[in-house]
Amino acid sequence: MNHPNMGGVALVNPPAFVKNQKLIDWVTEIVALTRPKQVIWCDGSQEEYDRLCSEMVAAGTMKKLNPAKRPNSYLANSDPSDVARVEDRTFICSEKAEDAGPTNNWIAPVEMRSTLHGLFTHCMEGRTLYVVPFSMGPLGSPIAHIGVELSDSPYVAVNMRVMTRMGKAVYDVLGTHGEFVPCVHSVGAPLPAGKKDVAWPCNETKYIVHFPETREIWSYGSGYGGNALLGKKCFALRIASTMGRDQGWLAEHMLILGVESPQGDKHYVAAAFPSACGKTNFAMLIPPASLHGWKVTTIGDDIAWIKPGADGRLYAINPEAGYFGVAPGTNSTTNANCMASLTRDTIFTNVALTDDGDVWWEGLSKEAPAHLIDWQGKDWTPQDAQASGRKAAHPNARFTVAATQNPVLDSAWDDPAGVPISAFIFGGRRSTTVPLVTEARNWTEGVYMAATMGSETTAAAAGQQGVVRRDPFAMLPFMGYNMSDYFAHWLSLGKKLDSSGAVLPKIFCVNWFRTDANGKFIWPGFGDNMRVLKWMLERIDHKAAAKENIFGLTPTFDDLTWDGLSFSADQYESITSIDHQAWQAELSLHAELFKKLEYNLPPELERTRVMLANKLAA
Ligand code: GTP
Ligand code: SPV
Ligand code: MN
Repeated sequence: MNHPNMGGVALVNPPAFVKNQKLIDWVTEIVALTRPKQVIWCDGSQEEYDRLCSEMVAAGTMKKLNPAKRPNSYLANSDPSDVARVEDRTFICSEKAEDAGPTNNWIAPVEMRSTLHGLFTHCMEGRTLYVVPFSMGPLGSPIAHIGVELSDSPYVAVNMRVMTRMGKAVYDVLGTHGEFVPCVHSVGAPLPAGKKDVAWPCNETKYIVHFPETREIWSYGSGYGGNALLGKKCFALRIASTMGRDQGWLAEHMLILGVESPQGDKHYVAAAFPSACGKTNFAMLIPPASLHGWKVTTIGDDIAWIKPGADGRLYAINPEAGYFGVAPGTNSTTNANCMASLTRDTIFTNVALTDDGDVWWEGLSKEAPAHLIDWQGKDWTPQDAQASGRKAAHPNARFTVAATQNPVLDSAWDDPAGVPISAFIFGGRRSTTVPLVTEARNWTEGVYMAATMGSETTAAAAGQQGVVRRDPFAMLPFMGYNMSDYFAHWLSLGKKLDSSGAVLPKIFCVNWFRTDANGKFIWPGFGDNMRVLKWMLERIDHKAAAKENIFGLTPTFDDLTWDGLSFSADQYESITSIDHQAWQAELSLHAELFKKLEYNLPPELERTRVMLANKLAA
């Protein structure tokens, strides 16, 4: 497709339905910089999706699964060096370092632009550049925002079609002068003439870069997940959080679920848990049969955009259209709704392949199949696993599936008005110290709990696993600006709603992950989390009791419903007890965090810490 008169630069050739000159000019500029061999303007059609998938099968990037087992589904195996988000290679390049804050990697925009210019020069040589137009939020809705990702990865193009509203209709909404967030992505693996491609091209050098002031995203070197599907963490959290700061709304790492009582009362709650700590599972929860008549439905499983409504309540939408969920641990007991979603039209990444052309991962069934091809393409048997601990699926193996395949999708999931939020839940993965559930006595105490949340690190990010780190609001890797300014934004939003006479959502803190002496989870979790959710809703509706403790309000054993579960008062004590020594250590970690976030830290938070420390000492 190279045009000899253009010095080897591919023709941009915008189709007639693309009428936005700014978009065409920008694509022309990026094509001149990166020099792909051709440009494809994605239309989001099924035909296009099928064609790109077949091309990836031919190229060895994907395998088609057995259509009798899993129709229209694929397995992609990534390069073993490209399996998770790279937080130490993620940058917030605001003009001022203070605006990125101490929790983000910051490099001055001029310097970063020069680095990116070097990296992106001719980086798409021999590859196709896909123009991927997408809407975060319902198409054309006043709360939605449009992005366009230019990527040299067909894997990104097909995943974006599932994860966002992607395709021709976006160009129509953009019209001649519509605004969009420009997102440039390259796997950073040029293919000069004669060079053979690999199944999963990527580069050891990685840069995931955000310019919050100009609302631009540049990503280089990775083809995996949040590093590459730029609508998700890069746009809907990092860039959107700065838009929210400027415009008075919130972009959060939260699932949103609907919950209906047997009497037909419905509430929506939003919950922030760090990566791989249970959002997808909680969002699709199936209440135990013994709790007759409770129903849970899903609005979203990872991201919430939350705006104050005219009535003083907070309304949330899920800006995404699909789930990029953790496969290991998912099975028909832990998450039957999820399993039902994955029966067809699913892209699996880094799970194992069975001999009959289906997929498997750790935790899918009690017994592993006698033989598998593992996520790195090698033979695998349960005996190998016992001898070497080698996993069949990567711990951060994921599925990509459309929200519309979820059997419990809430009827309002696509409603541009969003759903009113009755409660916020924050929860980390803590094997000790943090009790099952605590209710904040007021908004400030809730913001304090969220701000000081700690969690053990998981396989969702590259780096060491299982170490406790502070992960404020489960947003540590996803904040687009200064963390202290973000705390202030939450506090001021609360004040604003409160002064308008609105009833603020209640704030709760949970921990499903306390372990016993053998390292086993004590709380059954999953569907049984409904017992905790039920108590929260009864608190909101003034129907349940709670007792005051040092940190907030907690249910006694008798305040929760135990029908259908044998869980003793002693076991309950072991996941709700407050160990004074552990909490002294915990509070000193809060102090350490606040020291780090000293610049612009709202004084209410330090005051709350001192108040709690005094209570603990009393
Ligand atoms: P991201 O997509 O990375 O943001 O993660 P997520 O919060 O959606 O995590 P997800 O729901 O996919 O859960 C990840 C892991 O946590 C899986 O291995 C689950 O089996 C496990 N998990 C989820 N809920 C529970 C629970 O209630 N108890 C226990 N013990 N494990 C859980
Ligand atoms: C997370 O890590 O929180 C995810 C997966 O939701 S990724 O999209 O890869 O960031
Ligand atoms: Mn996430």
